Amino acid sequence: MALYAKAAEILEKAERKQGALKTLVYDSKFPNIKQLFALVCETQKFSSILQELIESTKLLKQTKLKMPLAKVLVYDLVLGQGLKCGGSWKTTMMKHRSRLQAELARMKIKQKVSRNEDLLPAGLQRSTEDQLPRYVRVNTLKTSVEDAVDYLKRDGFAYQGQASRLEDLTLKAKSFLRDQHLPELLVFSPKMDFHDHFLYKAGHIILQDKASCLPAYLLNPPPGSHVIDACAAPGNKTSHLAAVMRNTGKLSAFDLDAKRLATMSTLLLRAGVTCTQLANQDFLKVDPDSPQYKDVEYILLDPSCSGSGMVCLRDNTSSDQEKDEARLASLASFQLRCLNHGLRFPRLKRLVYSTCSIHSQENEEVVTACLQQNPGFRLVPLLAQWPERGMEPLTQCLRASTTKTRTHGFFVALLEKHSETGKINLIQAAQTSDPEVACCTPPSCESKPEPSETADKHKPAADLVCSTHAESTPAKKKRKRKKKKKATAGPQ
Ligand SMILES: C[S@@+](CC[C@H](N)C(=O)[O-])C[C@H]1O[C@@H](n2cnc3c(N)ncnc32)[C@H](O)[C@@H]1O
Repeated sequence: MALYAKAAEILEKAERKQGALKTLVYDSKFPNIKQLFALVCETQKFSSILQELIESTKLLKQTKLKMPLAKVLVYDLVLGQGLKCGGSWKTTMMKHRSRLQAELARMKIKQKVSRNEDLLPAGLQRSTEDQLPRYVRVNTLKTSVEDAVDYLKRDGFAYQGQASRLEDLTLKAKSFLRDQHLPELLVFSPKMDFHDHFLYKAGHIILQDKASCLPAYLLNPPPGSHVIDACAAPGNKTSHLAAVMRNTGKLSAFDLDAKRLATMSTLLLRAGVTCTQLANQDFLKVDPDSPQYKDVEYILLDPSCSGSGMVCLRDNTSSDQEKDEARLASLASFQLRCLNHGLRFPRLKRLVYSTCSIHSQENEEVVTACLQQNPGFRLVPLLAQWPERGMEPLTQCLRASTTKTRTHGFFVALLEKHSETGKINLIQAAQTSDPEVACCTPPSCESKPEPSETADKHKPAADLVCSTHAESTPAKKKRKRKKKKKATAGPQ
């Protein structure tokens, strides 16, 4: 009920011009922001059709519902995935379902279309690029990718092997693939809904966009380490971190929002996560010098952002440009404070920073300012084969988008401490007899070793695929010296 009441309240406020839709959703403090976003955006998109359905069936008169609430309920009942509430609203709506469905069918016949989407005016119809694949992360705390694939095959899904190009991700019906970049990710058609599936209910799979799986994968903290998830709720990345750490070590997760933390603890319980310590605390007030954080070496920072990368929020900028800019500036200043704070933990080795924003103010500009203020840190070049890079000159970072990666818009940067890295690289160069392994060259990077399957698995995933180190690494220097020696020795 709370979801529909909140969605109706937001639509009403937006209609009265009390704020931009996205601001109202963010400010609502609703525990499941994504779910609320989706409902509000879709209801608004289908608004004229919903209004026609409601008026022609005289629903308001018969139910005493107000228009905004009727719209969100009718949306989920006949256009969406079914009502997610019980109680009196469900009883009322179910009484009118057949009439609403019949009216919808009549509208489609009249307009000679078969899909609900086709009822929308051309400008509002979703382009195929916005119909993102359904990504499913296999929760390796509960099962393996192989077992999940076998289960799905037995359940009537058609496994197509591993994707090798972006185009492969266009899937129909019950076909599915293993993702080409992230080993624990399965890809399904956009329409696939797993909310009622056994694997989801049992916590064996997590419904998570591909881009949002990047931060924990790239940070790749070793089992047994102490990790902080600074702004953690509702916890998808926390559960991913726990899987990478194999539920060992310590994962301190902070969030300011108590309701979101409550949702998070349910999610973590279902996912079988046991290595976390949740705290309803402002990350900026966590003391980096406290003895309890003396062993923190890895931090995941995914702070509040504008959410402009979320597909449903696109083209939804408010008419008040000044207000939008002020909001972006305030978010960027908060994000920079969080980043600077994270880098203060004395034993920190690496920090991954991410946002689901497409604005450079919240991404490259924040990272650039942070690096200027923290010269002891630098960027790690990430996934050489990833198709979309951070804006120049921060091409070590990754961006994601509907067109280039078939995901929501996203940004990731991995920062590492200089001195520590120097030591790590020297040790690794000395340990390996093959310098090509110590620092892979671009062609060899195409076949990225999976972190869990390599001897070097505790090294951050980003490094396993690095190719474009601008600076000369010790391994490269060693290789150069070897080449020089060979050249002076002449052909054998
Ligand atoms: C983008 S969301 C995090 C999503 C989460 N990482 C995930 O993958 O599920 C940002 C979160 O930061 C929290 N937050 C905002 N300011 C904070 C602060 N000062 N300290 C801790 N958490 C904060 C918000 O409540 C919100 O839950």
